[in-house]
Amino acid sequence: MFLQGIANFIDDLMGGFQLLGLAMLVGGIVWALGVLRVGASASTAPIATLTLAASVLRWGALLLAGAQAIKIVTKGLVLAAALGALPLADYASTVQFEAGSLRLLLALAAAATAGWIAAAPQSLWRWSVGGALAAAVVVSGGWLVHAVGRFEARTLLMQLTVLHQLAAAVWVGGVLQLLALWRAGRHDATLHAFWPEAVARFSAVGGVSVAVLVASGVALATDYVGSWAGLFGTGYGSLVAAKVALLALTLGFAALNLAAGRAWRRHRGGKAATPPPASPATLPPLMARVPCYIEAETFLLVAVLFVAASLSSLPPAVDIPQMSATLHEVAAMFAPKLPSLVTPSHANLLAGEADRLAIVGRVASQAATAWSDYNHNVAGVFLVGMGAVALLSYLPRMAWAGYWPLGFVMLGVFLFFRADAETWPLGPLGFWASTFSNGEVLQHRLATLLCFALGLVEWRIRRQGLQRDNDPRYAFAVLCALGGLLLVTHAHTPFELKTDYLIQSTHLVMGLLATLMAVGRWLELRLADGHSGGWSRAAGLLSVSAMLCIGMVLVFYKEPLV
Ligand code: HEM
Repeated sequence: MFLQGIANFIDDLMGGFQLLGLAMLVGGIVWALGVLRVGASASTAPIATLTLAASVLRWGALLLAGAQAIKIVTKGLVLAAALGALPLADYASTVQFEAGSLRLLLALAAAATAGWIAAAPQSLWRWSVGGALAAAVVVSGGWLVHAVGRFEARTLLMQLTVLHQLAAAVWVGGVLQLLALWRAGRHDATLHAFWPEAVARFSAVGGVSVAVLVASGVALATDYVGSWAGLFGTGYGSLVAAKVALLALTLGFAALNLAAGRAWRRHRGGKAATPPPASPATLPPLMARVPCYIEAETFLLVAVLFVAASLSSLPPAVDIPQMSATLHEVAAMFAPKLPSLVTPSHANLLAGEADRLAIVGRVASQAATAWSDYNHNVAGVFLVGMGAVALLSYLPRMAWAGYWPLGFVMLGVFLFFRADAETWPLGPLGFWASTFSNGEVLQHRLATLLCFALGLVEWRIRRQGLQRDNDPRYAFAVLCALGGLLLVTHAHTPFELKTDYLIQSTHLVMGLLATLMAVGRWLELRLADGHSGGWSRAAGLLSVSAMLCIGMVLVFYKEPLV
């Protein structure tokens, strides 16, 4: 049971990296053929762009292979732990093992092919071989999704899921290629000169992939979710809803990039012939902001992929109607209520914990529920306080308010002692025994560490200002994004009890808000570089407002009584 928790966490994490690798691999091929137009007589893409595309593709194939290998091993470990020994022959004959191993081999072949392509990046033949391998990798994924276990419409659902994954890979892979081209273009004028043209060309490819993605996604959701209660009342449904929310936000940035690409074409009179821009400073204002929007899009799309990966390890909503919560019950989790700021004693908690472990059915004791409510509510008070002071810090003559990030350090100390208090340092269960045999304790320890890091890094940056080029100014945004991923993939257990789902629903919403915090802070810093001060401030206010909202969710948090 304990290994299962860790294994679920690793499986979801590897699932996200797998989808990222798939996007870099498949998206890289479509990018080279559809945007760089390799082999086409009219192609004006410099060779350097093809070499760069091949290297991104190669890293993607390696990431996919690595994540797939870890998944195969993790599932084997869980099987061995559950059965006392690994029945290798039986395991090796499962669809998961066969399709997973095939995908692993195909990914390794694709990585080798990427090296071959890089040796002659203008060769359409080599890209076509890479394309055939990428297609095989995509198709092999059809045996690794829910559809393979369905009785009705099995083939159609497999095809729809593969089409959905392909569309996602083309979009995300293209955005990652744009990002890689922009970053490489800062040190290479040829690459930089081609970048605005690449933005304009990708809009069409991106538009088609989004349309296919949404159409296939809605078809899949209709079959696997089936109702509003399924959408908001189950772990599976709520993750689909989270994807739709993240998609809407991402399309906002994609629309800004589309507008910039069009303005660029108009600016250049539709022809690629006129002289390219010498440096970022010479780009038209709208186009100059595009790199920041693409970075924000990348944050959001990576978050969607990790949500999608968690989705694949949960039972579809239509299969668990008896376990779905009503809309009213979910709404009640977020409804305003008085926070409980009185904690039960640690002795009562431990006494309740001993009873809980003795009784089959995993029902938490009243003391444990009250202890958890107190923890969440107090953490909420910390975040609401920090959010309010952070908002003040945007007002003139409020320099003192710049100390708000130190609240995270205090929250870290609070969580260090109070999270999982039946374990080290307050409880009898030792540090190693508790951390590496229970997925939730491991995630809580990571969250505590994240709190300390967030507070210390951000306080230093906001107090001392942006001094050196290599200061960790973006660390806060990246740590928030990691926190968001942790919360989104936070211990969703298959066939979870309704009460567990109601608790998870608050973590999912906080995960989405943490992603918003990350995107807001990232854009605040990126847009502050002289192109659009006003937008920078708006992004900063969005970030701290999202933090305040996380605080509100925590202040109103109350575990549902069983
Ligand atoms: C309208 C928005 C969307 C809807 C309704 C939707 C719906 C779904 C559903 C129902 C599944 C699960 C299929 C299964 O259980 O096997 C799924 C899987 C997936 N979705 Fe979406 N999706 C949407 C948007 C997106 C976006 C924006 C992306 C990424 C950019 C994405 C990437 C994926 C991936 C990669 C999978 C496969 C996960 C796996 O099985 O490993 N989806 N989607």
